[in-house]
Amino acid sequence: MRVAVFPGSFDPVTNGHLDLIRRGAGMFDRLIIGVLVNIGKTPLFSIEERVDMLSALTREFPQISVKTFEGLLVDFVEAEGATVVLRGLRTPQDFSYELPLAQANYKLNKHADTIFLATAPEYSYISSSGVKEIFRFGGEIREMVPGIVYERLIRLK
Ligand code: PNS
Repeated sequence: MRVAVFPGSFDPVTNGHLDLIRRGAGMFDRLIIGVLVNIGKTPLFSIEERVDMLSALTREFPQISVKTFEGLLVDFVEAEGATVVLRGLRTPQDFSYELPLAQANYKLNKHADTIFLATAPEYSYISSSGVKEIFRFGGEIREMVPGIVYERLIRLK
């Protein structure tokens, strides 16, 4: 059984995340979305809200589950019986950032390989931090996030 973890902060979930999740779901027997409990950072959405939104967005996929994790990603991967970490690459800068992380994770857990999926070009400009900044200053983010995320963002105003 091929089990993969798709980790992230998901604050908020973007259309780019959702596209990667959907494509990843077709590649593995189980895909666990690991939502990082980011102690020290004040998130836009609480961990419960992020799990709630991700669960609603992936309800149609029986092979997907949404869980939270703290501490090292490799420990979560091992505890879940996964052998793959799935990450998206939007830009060459993403690759520069992700490669040493993947290598460090491999050093820590040789039973987990990182697999990169190229982000679909229509989503390659979207990031959670960008969405937050655009939203904060009143810009239009409707095309960047799933509908339920957009509605929750509007409610925050
Ligand atoms: O969505 P993000 O913020 O880009 O996700 C980053 C994430 C959660 C994948 C990364 O920060 C992570 O794995 N954090 C857990 C702590 C850890 O394992 N750090 C060591 C990596 S070398």
